[in-house]
Amino acid sequence: MEAWIVGVRTGGVLGLTRGSHASVPRCDERRRDVSAVQRAGRARAGVACRCGSVGKEMSEPASPGAGLMDVSFEKSGAGDALDLGILGFDHVEFWVGNAMQSATYFVARFGFEPYAETGLQTGSRKVMTRVLRRNNVLISFSSALEPHDELFREQLARSGDGVKSVAFSVRDCAHAFDAAVQRGAKPVQPVRTLKDENGVVKVAIIEAGYGGTWHTFVERHAFTGSFMPGFRAMNPHEEPLVKYGAPPPEFEVIDHCVCNVFEGDMEEAAEWYIRTLGFQRFWSVDDKQILTEYSAMRSVVVTDPTEKVKLPLNESAKGKRKSQIEEFLDYFGGPGIQHIAIRTGDIVNAVAALRKRGVDFISVPDTYYEDLRARLEQYGVSLRENLDDIQEQGLLVDFDERGYLLQIFTRPLQPRPTLFLEILQRRSHEGFGVNNFKTLFEAIERDQALRGNL
Ligand SMILES: [Fe+2]
Repeated sequence: MEAWIVGVRTGGVLGLTRGSHASVPRCDERRRDVSAVQRAGRARAGVACRCGSVGKEMSEPASPGAGLMDVSFEKSGAGDALDLGILGFDHVEFWVGNAMQSATYFVARFGFEPYAETGLQTGSRKVMTRVLRRNNVLISFSSALEPHDELFREQLARSGDGVKSVAFSVRDCAHAFDAAVQRGAKPVQPVRTLKDENGVVKVAIIEAGYGGTWHTFVERHAFTGSFMPGFRAMNPHEEPLVKYGAPPPEFEVIDHCVCNVFEGDMEEAAEWYIRTLGFQRFWSVDDKQILTEYSAMRSVVVTDPTEKVKLPLNESAKGKRKSQIEEFLDYFGGPGIQHIAIRTGDIVNAVAALRKRGVDFISVPDTYYEDLRARLEQYGVSLRENLDDIQEQGLLVDFDERGYLLQIFTRPLQPRPTLFLEILQRRSHEGFGVNNFKTLFEAIERDQALRGNL
């Protein structure tokens, strides 16, 4: 097993360390990551713990917002021997009041295309689902058809429209489900084999360890139909918004899905993914690194062994006012998916297309770009994109010595300030924009204040 860290901190790029377990001392507590080590002020120069945690020299605490910050890229976890055979994100399933209208919103604003549907006309008596696709990104919207559907009624009353399931493509659905349940996952639906003239798809569902949200395992072997057996294909060219709408953005894949949990629950949630699904810790930042004048948070990212599925888990830390995570938890009625990040290969044009379609993005102050230009010059980093285009589209940039990422965040997509989308482009950079967090969170807090929730 290897441990990684990109040590970047205020005042200078520290460099990349790749440590092997054979040559590094053991950390006392396997579960403690670099953030915890830093919190305790015990990080040493170039010291990597054998548990996979890595500490870089920190003669003084990082000064958030004053420059570049330490982040930790980790590969560690207790689930080394467990491989559920996850191949990547399959789709994200929303539960909403009106699946037809929600789907149309995503077609109009985000350029998705109608892909498949099921409902009364296809023999589905309880749930209507419409599935949208844009390149390799699949999202679905489901609504209950019966007046007294307890599951939907409770979900929508508590959380409003939002994500119910983050689905993973798997090699073997039965293996993934059985292995997860054996390790303590709460089963929601055992393996179901769905068949029609186009082939077979197997699905099974478990509940995420933090509760409420589901993970659906989807096994598709040689299925030639649209989405799943029982779904009717939709012709995107019959959709007027596709025919006559503005040019759509080009998406690649779902990059990551972020979950907010209650303060104090983040480590337990991460451990659940490691223990139950064989995930690994991948990245983390702590509340010394992510704080504004009013709030602070911690984040840890877990990933499957192939690193196709990345799930950041966020929790609040003590702050002067209500954090955006607390606001989310209040309005969602508990933990759940806060944002879905969609990766594109051309973010400048993708965001320009989305803006033409009326997508409402968080606004970034001009001072951010003055600071960005100075930092890029300071570290000798050049971007392939034009900085004026980046500023015009309101993109945030984060970088280290290996590469950079460009990202932007929408405002919430429903009346409750819960789910939003991120659009991002990676250029040899595997982080999540830690050096933009302060700018981003201050922008969100300005919106929170306007909502009366700060
Ligand atoms: Fe994100």
